[in-house]
Amino acid sequence: MLKGGLGFVPTMGYLHEGHMTLVRHARAANDHVAVSIFVNPAQFGPNEDFAAYPRDLNRDLAMLEQEGVSFVFNPSPEVVYPKGFETYMVPGEVAEPLEGARRPGHFRGVDTVVAKLFNIVQPHRAYFGEKDAQQVRVIKRMVKDLDIPVEIVIVPTVREPDGLAMSSRNIYLNERERKAALCLIKGMRLAHSHWQEGKRNAETLRKLVEETIEAEPLAALDYVSLADSESLNELHGTVSGAALLSLAVRIGKTRLIDNMTLE
Ligand code: PAJ
Repeated sequence: MLKGGLGFVPTMGYLHEGHMTLVRHARAANDHVAVSIFVNPAQFGPNEDFAAYPRDLNRDLAMLEQEGVSFVFNPSPEVVYPKGFETYMVPGEVAEPLEGARRPGHFRGVDTVVAKLFNIVQPHRAYFGEKDAQQVRVIKRMVKDLDIPVEIVIVPTVREPDGLAMSSRNIYLNERERKAALCLIKGMRLAHSHWQEGKRNAETLRKLVEETIEAEPLAALDYVSLADSESLNELHGTVSGAALLSLAVRIGKTRLIDNMTLE
């Protein structure tokens, strides 16, 4: 089969089945696949987990080799941000609510590194996970606004058999916390079943998720959002059209995010 092109999967490493699913999508549609492994300091706040972020390069490389990845780019921070570096991307309104509001500067760091990686790797297509729903929208906006010649492909969230979204940060959870982390999917599934029954009040749907998180003693809710799936503007009253249900929850010291589209 003639496929053509270079597919690119940007990551911060400590790879799991979510990442590998992006790689498989890239491999199916491209002649070659490039993966970057770079824990990007510019997207972490001063009190976030940059230093503690899990890293295991040898394991990552073995996994990528098995999947037939041709190129791996694993730069040091000094290569990406050499002395004198001072130019950053300025994301727009879609970066403002949700993660953008809780993590000031996060999407500035994401857009900057993704733009740099696109320039260095020069892929035809790049693959991102719906797991990070706002990131996907922010990057799509940047690519469109700046005429970046890369096709953005979105891949659905890959979950553990019990429903927990795969994440490199899941490694932080101890056994009790791992069980408690199921409150995220439980809350979203409850809202989804109400939605399926035709119950479309935004406040009620958010409340169902909030109450599920609050019922879990090890969980502390950061936010629950039901927003317009494109603009990410918060919805009120009766919802018509597609809505993005998203949430961030702290389980002990670990901050988890997840989302589900209701349509
Ligand atoms: P990272 O968290 O390593 O994720 C890399 C890619 O894998 C992202 O597109 C993310 O959405 C996707 N991903 C993570 N978990 C997933 C899951 N359970 N199912 C499907 N896809 C999943 O996101 C980043 O790195 C960084 O912000 C990056 C884009 C690399 C820029 O530094």
